[in-house]
Amino acid sequence: MTAHPRNIAIYGAGAVGTYVGCWLCEAGFRTTLLGRGWLQEGAAEVRAQRHDGAVATLQRGGQVVQDAHALRNADVCFVSVKSRDTPEAGRTLRRILRPGAHVVSLQNGRNNAAVLQDALGPDVEVSAGVVGFNVRRLQPLRFVETVAGSLHLSSAAPLREIATLLGTVGFSVRTHDDIGAVVDGKLLLNTNNGVSAATGSSVATLMRDRDARWLFAKSIEEGLAVFGAMGRSPAKVASMGPRALATFLKLPDFVVRPLLRFGDVDDDAVTSTLGDLHKGRATEIGQLNGELVSLGLDVGVPTPVNAALTDIVRAHEHDVTAGRPPRFVSASVLRSQCEAAAERHAQAPAHSS
Ligand SMILES: NC(=O)c1ccc[n+]([C@@H]2O[C@H](COP(=O)([O-])OP(=O)(O)OC[C@H]3O[C@@H](n4cnc5c(N)ncnc54)[C@H](OP(=O)(O)O)[C@@H]3O)[C@@H](O)[C@H]2O)c1
Repeated sequence: MTAHPRNIAIYGAGAVGTYVGCWLCEAGFRTTLLGRGWLQEGAAEVRAQRHDGAVATLQRGGQVVQDAHALRNADVCFVSVKSRDTPEAGRTLRRILRPGAHVVSLQNGRNNAAVLQDALGPDVEVSAGVVGFNVRRLQPLRFVETVAGSLHLSSAAPLREIATLLGTVGFSVRTHDDIGAVVDGKLLLNTNNGVSAATGSSVATLMRDRDARWLFAKSIEEGLAVFGAMGRSPAKVASMGPRALATFLKLPDFVVRPLLRFGDVDDDAVTSTLGDLHKGRATEIGQLNGELVSLGLDVGVPTPVNAALTDIVRAHEHDVTAGRPPRFVSASVLRSQCEAAAERHAQAPAHSS
């Protein structure tokens, strides 16, 4: 494995991949992006706008390709497809990449890096990465950071080099010895996907609504209980750690609203799960709130709020993929249902084993 990567590949250049790809070009890397025809045709016009207003393009050393073989010289390959496309990415990259290449999953969820590692075998090292910001494709070729944050990478040597050079162009990257704890911390933050997609709320609307915040807080607390039972300690990924964030979210509006740092969150920022519903597509809910439900079943920790959110989002998926509009549920109705279910559960006689 080279400690001085020069050739970078992006497998799946959509919102995250194109945005990161532009900033890698800006930092001086030769970057090859595997994308669709619309990106290849418009490559000269692509703009990636950071939350502080700075803009990067593909002009310095970037090229967009549609044939994955063009990624074969990559020292480091970032995978940024949705989770449903991860197995295919693994099979394709296995045929192409050189031994010693390093692959980074820039995807949400806990399993994508393992799926890639299984497909790629021992000659290619795979690590998880965590995208701590949100990016939206606001116009066909304009990619905007709508929620500010850092890119989190493992501390493997070639990734430290990438972090250093991205830092020289003002792009925030943090490297970690235990990236798994960061992945777990991000999964807890990502439980807002279930809340926003069940209720149809943007990120900012969700944070202003006390009932939506309650659902988000409960989702995090359930996740903390699950990780506690697994003996894992999720890392702090945002300005607040997960436990402090859950406590903050449950405070009343008159305390929370003045404290919300809306400077970091644009009004039109939506979670990727709600974005998928808007596009009429299946979502990653099974890798997000649904993943905590599965882990909870494994370790015997109940996750009723995450389960309710997952079920509702699955019903929305069913609607949108059949061409019907999703029937969003209000956060206050959903909160009442979850509280009533918890009450029934608390009053039910304990089962004898
Ligand atoms: N967007 C965010 O703000 C954000 C933030 C944090 C984490 N994430 C995570 O990052 C991952 C990527 O999200 P995203 O929002 O960037 O998704 P996205 O915009 O859908 O990007 C994925 C892109 O890969 C393309 N693609 C898939 N297979 C391909 C192939 N074989 N050849 C060429 N192009 C291919 C897709 O094209 P088609 O659509 O035509 O298939 C799509 O344009 C997800 O796991 C997401 O949860 C996203």
